[in-house]
Amino acid sequence: MKKIFVGISGIGSYLPEKILTNDELSKMVDTSNEWIVERTGIEQRRIAEESQATSDLAIEAGIRALENASVTPEEIDLIIVASSTPDYIFPSTACIVQHKINATKAAAFDMNVACSGFVYAMATGANFISSGVYKKVLVIGAEVFSRIMNWEDRNTCVLFGDGAGAVVLEECDQDFGILSYDLGSDGENGDVLIVPAGGSRTPASANTVNDKLHSVQMDGKAVFKFAVKTMGKSTIKALDKAGLKIEDLDFLVPHQANTRIIDSSMKKLNLSKEKVYTNLNKYGNTSSASVPIALDEAVKEGRIKKGDNIALVAFGAGLSWASIVMKWNRGDTNG
Ligand code: ACO
Repeated sequence: MKKIFVGISGIGSYLPEKILTNDELSKMVDTSNEWIVERTGIEQRRIAEESQATSDLAIEAGIRALENASVTPEEIDLIIVASSTPDYIFPSTACIVQHKINATKAAAFDMNVACSGFVYAMATGANFISSGVYKKVLVIGAEVFSRIMNWEDRNTCVLFGDGAGAVVLEECDQDFGILSYDLGSDGENGDVLIVPAGGSRTPASANTVNDKLHSVQMDGKAVFKFAVKTMGKSTIKALDKAGLKIEDLDFLVPHQANTRIIDSSMKKLNLSKEKVYTNLNKYGNTSSASVPIALDEAVKEGRIKKGDNIALVAFGAGLSWASIVMKWNRGDTNG
């Protein structure tokens, strides 16, 4: 059977308009612009309107990716939404997107792998195409993390922002597109990054609300160490699987959590800064949306050209990690 190669045929992203600056945050918690910039690289983040839920951001990004791919919603076979902040426990956010964009024949499901979610979802979507099951898959990473923040906790609330990014996956030319991936998990250390209540372990109650257990709790130092150790390792593993070396890598799009995490990981990889994309200064950590938003901006800035070997790499709660190595399959300047 002929091998089916899978590439990105369209890409798009959406950021809510409202900007929350570090100076504004400094009026809410005991922090400062200097501290946040020095320790994280973040200058501002976007915050969704009260009327906007995750599906609303996902739809905007999804439609932009479909337009970029010149694919209609009716042609989509499958929609996967990666998110840790779904509209509801159920129905899935993917089903809401499916209905609202009128993707009449699409199957739809959500994936929750926190910040690694989009890369996991892209690998999953690609498998549906390479196995011959589906032809066109819409993969979206979308988050409204502002709704699961404790806005009195300076350890976490300065880090995150809202946004969405999406890609359309389709068969591409031979030897282009996704070459390999590396997915992994370490559930043993899951408690270092957790939203403790609201699930079946600790259902919502007046106490859980009072104790702010529906918001992100994090051991920042433990996550930092895990991230630096994992990002490089996972990238190398995926490159290995593709038969490539770090010298062959033209461009890397990392999860946008913290400039220091990215810099330390890239130093370990011996990868020069020019080959690594960052935009977390503008948006903070948008969790599963961060990689597709960064990839979209990198593509639109003309940073990636046809034939480039690129890597997408993410880490997050779980703990979890994910990398994809691909040979960029598109040649036009806007994607
Ligand atoms: N403003 C001012 N001071 C602060 C702030 C703040 N916003 N936050 C923490 N501090 C204080 C701490 O209380 C501490 O004070 P103390 O020494 O009196 O106790 C001091 O600053 C130093 O704190 P550290 O934790 O040592 O700071 P560090 O340099 O480790 O930076 C940070 C903290 C930014 C959270 C870092 O550890 C980090 O980025 N970790 C990774 C977080 C991450 O990426 N999470 C997302 C994972 S993806 C997902 O799935 C959701």
